[in-house]
Amino acid sequence: MKSLLRACAMGCVLSAAGACQKSEVASAPISAASPTRPSAPAQAPAAAAALTAPLQLTASIQELMDAVIDPAADALWNSVSIIQTRNGTVFNQPRSDEQWHEVRRRAIVLIEGSNLLVMDGRKLVAPGSVVLDQGTSGVLGVEEGQKRLDLQHAAFVQFAGALRDAGTQMLAAIDKKDAQAMMNAGAAMDGVCESCHTMFWYPNQVIPALPPEFGSSKSAPKPKRIPLSP
Ligand code: HEC
Repeated sequence: MKSLLRACAMGCVLSAAGACQKSEVASAPISAASPTRPSAPAQAPAAAAALTAPLQLTASIQELMDAVIDPAADALWNSVSIIQTRNGTVFNQPRSDEQWHEVRRRAIVLIEGSNLLVMDGRKLVAPGSVVLDQGTSGVLGVEEGQKRLDLQHAAFVQFAGALRDAGTQMLAAIDKKDAQAMMNAGAAMDGVCESCHTMFWYPNQVIPALPPEFGSSKSAPKPKRIPLSP
């Protein structure tokens, strides 16, 4: 076998270059995959466009929060932390290649999820649903919330863009495997979530002043909503 291969290689060098080129093309992975590429799509786009709209809304903003944004953000926040224990400080961060890959997936979901938020016609909640904590003081009802969303859509789009930027900052930190930068990006994300929620979810909420050191670390607890006394 070995001698055959060597003979072939020698033959190629010695004989016409065309023989060598031919065998290279035949064995290249790209050419093996390419036959499916040019042939398939020739008629497909027109037919597909006739059958379905290119974009179709299925979920409300509430459902996107629940299914896409919140789980991705939680996974990212939980992936880096500094915990003080009796035995010292424990730094929790992604370490293996698989762990880095996993947080990268979450960042991609967050970034692209923020694009989904701003699609035209996306409603606040699904028909028949209520805003989470609706009826609690400070929280807008569905109609008020939807009205605000319609009237101030530009601001909503800005917040979604800020979320995408924070996600992009997170992605860059992940690609550098920089846990401290991930923490900073996590804090930026947190600020954006809160800002958008304050405008479109619970604008009338009253939050007592927080101590100045609050929010400097992701391991600090999130602010609790304080119900107003009647
Ligand atoms: C562009 C605006 C915007 C941004 C940015 C945003 N949210 Fe929201 N979010 C909303 C609105 C509006 C609601 C209220 C709808 C509802 O859930 O009732 C909401 C609701 C939620 C809910 C409640 C979902 C439920 O089950 O009702 C969660 C959880 C949530 N957001 C998490 C987050 C997190 C975490 C982030 C940041 C990583 C974030 N959101 C960023 C607009 C935003």
